[in-house]
Amino acid sequence: MVEDRGQFSSRLGFVLAAAGSAVGLGNLVAFPVMASKNGGAAFLFVYIAFVALICYPVMLAEIAMGRRSQRNPVGAFTSIPGGGGIWRWAGKLAILTPFMIAVFYTVITVWIVMYLVYALTGNLDYLSEPGTFGEVTTSTSLFVYLPLLLAVIFYILLGGVRNGIERLARILMPALAVMLILLVVFVLTLDNASAGIAYYLVPDFSKINGSVINGALSQAFFSLSLGMGILITYGSYFSREDNIPQSTRMVAIADTAIAFFAGMLILPAIFAFDPNTNTDDLSTSSVGLIFSFLPQIFLSMQSAVGYTGACVVAAVFFTLVFFAALTSLVSIIEIPIAYMVDEWEMSRRRAVFTQAALLTLFAVPATLSLGLVDFLTSFTSYGGAVKSFFDVISDVFYETILPFVGLLVCLFCAYRWKMSGLSEELSVGDAAYAGSRLEKYLNVSLGTVIPLILLLVFINTVATKYFAISLFGF
Ligand code: PHE
Repeated sequence: MVEDRGQFSSRLGFVLAAAGSAVGLGNLVAFPVMASKNGGAAFLFVYIAFVALICYPVMLAEIAMGRRSQRNPVGAFTSIPGGGGIWRWAGKLAILTPFMIAVFYTVITVWIVMYLVYALTGNLDYLSEPGTFGEVTTSTSLFVYLPLLLAVIFYILLGGVRNGIERLARILMPALAVMLILLVVFVLTLDNASAGIAYYLVPDFSKINGSVINGALSQAFFSLSLGMGILITYGSYFSREDNIPQSTRMVAIADTAIAFFAGMLILPAIFAFDPNTNTDDLSTSSVGLIFSFLPQIFLSMQSAVGYTGACVVAAVFFTLVFFAALTSLVSIIEIPIAYMVDEWEMSRRRAVFTQAALLTLFAVPATLSLGLVDFLTSFTSYGGAVKSFFDVISDVFYETILPFVGLLVCLFCAYRWKMSGLSEELSVGDAAYAGSRLEKYLNVSLGTVIPLILLLVFINTVATKYFAISLFGF
C-alpha cells in the first residue's frame, strides 16, 4: 500500500457518512411513491420487517468484511480466510456494480441540478409544464452542468475519507434533516394535509402481493446502499475500537426514518393541493413524480404562499434532494477509487483522476441516451421493450445485480469465512455481541433463509425483466 488509506474520525463520522450514502433519491423519491401505491402503512410494515430481518444482517456482514480485511471489496473477498479463487469475481462485481450505478445516478443528479437552478431563478411555472421534463432530459445545457457536478464530486473525493467524504456528510446531513423537517412541518399546516396522512398511514393490506414484497426488498437494498461493496469499503475505514452492530443500527434507523418523513412530506402535499387526488394517478414512476408531478404541486402552493414563496419551497426541496444525491454519489465512486488504491497501489490522487475520466466516459453517452442520440436511445430491446443505454445500466445493475451481490456476501460469510469468523469480528468493539440474540439470529439465518430469499428475488427479477415471464405468481 502506498499511502494511508484513511479512516473515519469517530463513530459519529462513520454513521453520518454511511447515512449520507444511504439517504438518497431512493428515500426521498422512490420510497414515498412505492409506499403510497402499495398500501401505505402496510408497505411500511413489510419494508421495516425486511430492513430489520434481512438487510441489517447483510449490512453487518459487509461492514465486518471491510473492517476485518481493511480493504475494498476485491481485497475483502480475497484476503479474508476462505476467500480468493472465484470469490475474487464476487469482489469485482462489487466494484463494477457501484461504478455503473454511479453512471445512472450521475445522469439523474444532473437533471436535479437543472431543476434546482430553474427553481432558484424563479422559473417554477416552467418546471410545472407537462413538456418540461422531456425538454430538460434532451437539453444541451446538461453538458454545462455535468462537468460542474463532476468537478464538485471529484474535488470532494480528492479530500479523502476524513476531509472529503466525512466532512461533506457532517455538513450536509444535518442540513438535510433540518430542511426535511421544516418542509414537513410547513406541509402539515396546510388544509387537507390530513387526507394525505390518512392515505399514507392507514394500512391497506389487500395491496400486498408477491411483486410488492419483491419491490420492497429491492428498494430496501438500494436504499441502504447494500450489495455494492459500499459498506465493505466504509467498514474498512471503521475503527476497531467501535461497535459495529450499534453504529449499523443507527444508520439503518436514520435511513428508514428519512424515507418515512419523505412520505410525510410528499403525500400530504399532494392531498393538500388536490383533495380529490385519485390515488391511481400518482405517477407510476418515481422519476415522473419528482420531475413532473411535484413541480405542479409546488406551483399550486402559490395560492397560499404566493409565487415567490412557492419557488422558495421548490428550491428548498430540490436542494434537499441534491444534497442527498451528492452524498450518495460520492460514496458510490469511492468504491472503485479504494479498489485502485488498494489493489493497484495507485496514489489516491491518481485513482481519483482516473475515475473522473472513466465516469465522464460513461456518463456522457448515458446522458445522451434519453433522446439526444438515436443509437443510444434505442440501444437494444429485451423483455418486450426498447431500451436506452441508460435503461440497460439501470435494469442490469440497479435492479438485478444488487440482491445478487448481497446473496454472495451471505454465502461467503456463512460458508467460507464461517460464522465463527464473522462473530469474532463483530465482537471486536462490542463485548456483548458473543452470545447475544443477534448473534444467534445471524447464525441461523445468514447461511439459510436470507440467501434463499435473495436468490428468489434475483431469479424473479431476471425472469420478469429480461424474459417478461412472471414466476411464483409475482
Ligand atoms: N442509497 C441511496 C439511495 O437511497 C442510493 C445509493 C445507491 C447510494 C447505491 C449509494 C449506492 O438513493
